Amino acid sequence: MTVGSSSTSDIGPPPNGPIPLLTPYRMGDLDLSHRIVLAPLARNRSYNNVPQPHAALYYSQRATKGGLLITEATGVSDTAQGYPDTPGIWTKEQVEAWKPIVDAVHQKGAIFFLQLLHVGRVSTYGFQPNGQAPISSTDKGVTTGLDGVDWSPPRRLRKDEIPGIVNDFRLAARNAIEAGFDGVEIHGANGYLIEQFLKDQVNDRTDEYGGSLENRSRFALEVVEAVTQEIGSRRVGIRLSPYTTFMDSIDSDPDGLGLYMANALNKFNILYLHMIEPRVNGAMVLQGPEDEIPHKLLPMRKAFHNTFIAAGGYNRSKANRAIAENYTDLIAFGRLFLANPDLPKRYELDAPLNKYNRSTFYISDPVVGYTDYPFLEQA
Ligand SMILES: Cc1cc2nc3c(=O)[nH]c(=O)nc-3n(C[C@H](O)[C@H](O)[C@H](O)COP(=O)(O)O)c2cc1C
Repeated sequence: MTVGSSSTSDIGPPPNGPIPLLTPYRMGDLDLSHRIVLAPLARNRSYNNVPQPHAALYYSQRATKGGLLITEATGVSDTAQGYPDTPGIWTKEQVEAWKPIVDAVHQKGAIFFLQLLHVGRVSTYGFQPNGQAPISSTDKGVTTGLDGVDWSPPRRLRKDEIPGIVNDFRLAARNAIEAGFDGVEIHGANGYLIEQFLKDQVNDRTDEYGGSLENRSRFALEVVEAVTQEIGSRRVGIRLSPYTTFMDSIDSDPDGLGLYMANALNKFNILYLHMIEPRVNGAMVLQGPEDEIPHKLLPMRKAFHNTFIAAGGYNRSKANRAIAENYTDLIAFGRLFLANPDLPKRYELDAPLNKYNRSTFYISDPVVGYTDYPFLEQA
């Protein structure tokens, strides 16, 4: 069976027992009514980097009372972008534009976190102010033509420039709270700037931001520290993907990197650690045995003291078993939640699912493939 098709044949929990995904969970001081999280999903409908009114409908369609939603990746500054029409949170106009979207989600009683992104070298001159080179930990570029884009060669950040980038994350977090978000998720995954520091096949620095694990994680942890100081640790999560090879972002020891970060993050007492399963590469998921129970993240889940979110390739049965086994506290669903605005309801009823349409993931249409996926009663 392909991911994205009906789940009615899934092996679920005992017919009359509680459905693990639908059980409540207390995350810090937030009461979640279920364990189904909307994964961050870039939708490329924020024209000129400004979130649009149609996003209020899109997110509120996926909002439930006590459900956790994470926004699409949102740029922290004018050097942070690398894709068309992705939203930002560094200008007053962007903050004001997010407000009605957050209000619409809160009216449904959901909890809403903003994902903070800097793409680093996953960019081109065309996305950069004055056509300058994208910035990174390195001056090695992403392979030309990867994913169909001629990525521009990056410029290695000087050590004295790094505090300014950390500060961009801090200001963006403050703006997110100003816009009404309940918290932020620092995007430390999928080959973007933070990972360009974390991973040893990208980071070739010889200063204190390169070399040892401690040095490679310094930038990520400085961002975490700055953001927690600004908005408080109970409002901060981070997403990591040590196993991905997306955007040429590879580490020779992903087990060691993931575990090191899980332990190091404890110092900041942040709200959650959100980790991506090894079988996921960016927005693509390799097919695996249907009911394979993943265990690769378990050491990190055990090391980290607060809430753990797992993501990548989950369906109803696998997610239920992961929760029942205490492998994770919450599961983030990407493509299935994108295509099923009422995913929690469908999982409660074990109802069939809409199939996602990959060709409309990133088009700019404000409706098609965005707010037009039918609800159960319309299907
Ligand atoms: C259309 C699309 C956009 C995505 N955008 C983001 C993003 O903005 N930030 C992020 O961390 N991951 C992003 N991802 C990855 C997803 O959050 C998720 O990790 C991936 O889809 C695997 O989960 P799934 O099997 O439940 O879909 C995106 C994936 C898709 C399909």
